[in-house]
Amino acid sequence: MRIPFVIGNWKMNTTVAQATTLVRDMLAGLDRVKGVHKVLCPPFVSLSAVGDLLKGSSVMLGAQDMCAKTKGAYTGEISPLMLAELCQFVILGHSERRQYFGETDQIVNAKIISALKHGLRPIFCIGEKLEDHEAGMTEEVVARQLAEGLSAITGSTAIVIAYEPVWAIGTGKAASGEQAVATIGFIRDTLARLWTNEIACNLAILYGGSVTGDNIAEFVSYKEIDGALVGGASLRAEEFVHIAEQTAIIAKASH
Ligand code: 13P
Repeated sequence: MRIPFVIGNWKMNTTVAQATTLVRDMLAGLDRVKGVHKVLCPPFVSLSAVGDLLKGSSVMLGAQDMCAKTKGAYTGEISPLMLAELCQFVILGHSERRQYFGETDQIVNAKIISALKHGLRPIFCIGEKLEDHEAGMTEEVVARQLAEGLSAITGSTAIVIAYEPVWAIGTGKAASGEQAVATIGFIRDTLARLWTNEIACNLAILYGGSVTGDNIAEFVSYKEIDGALVGGASLRAEEFVHIAEQTAIIAKASH
């Protein structure tokens, strides 16, 4: 049985002071939610402060990106060795990194390999752009992102996959549960072909893109959707706690 995830990606929001306030506002509520993996991904500069606040709680910590290299003359980059001291998870291949910072499937692949090697759990993001969606190319795009992003990687349930259609991110236009489950089913079948059926069945695949307290139930009521990667709504303490609570209630009822 897969345990669902609720992951907050704060993106480039919150100063250290704001991040600690936000954690204080949501921590007790999140900590009370059982049967769901809860992960917060603040900006790099807040990892340490947020990590201190999460100590002794059931809430885990993740970063939003990582350099594939371990150390050296790479000004401005953050290495897996640095992250491994601070957090357990790292978001890799987010569409905003692909779109604004030129990350290719090959770069994402190198980062995933490096994260796994250093004991970090990658939250590997994939998803099609609006034009691909409208051209009926969704499966082709995610199949390529999976094949290239996971190239040379032995099947691993340490990886969490987040299916985030780019057209649904930050637009308020979430995919329907039906659309999400269709693509997530395809992703699981693709992973079964790439690796084994057993690994594909045990690996968590989440939905992301305009998830809110109002629509979370639509996604997690499908047993194929193992929770959500949440952007905007994860910056609102009460709503994010509600998303985690809903996920726990529905998962418990349906499994
Ligand atoms: P929104 O929830 O703001 O649409 O962002 C989704 C996302 O990109 C999470 O990684």
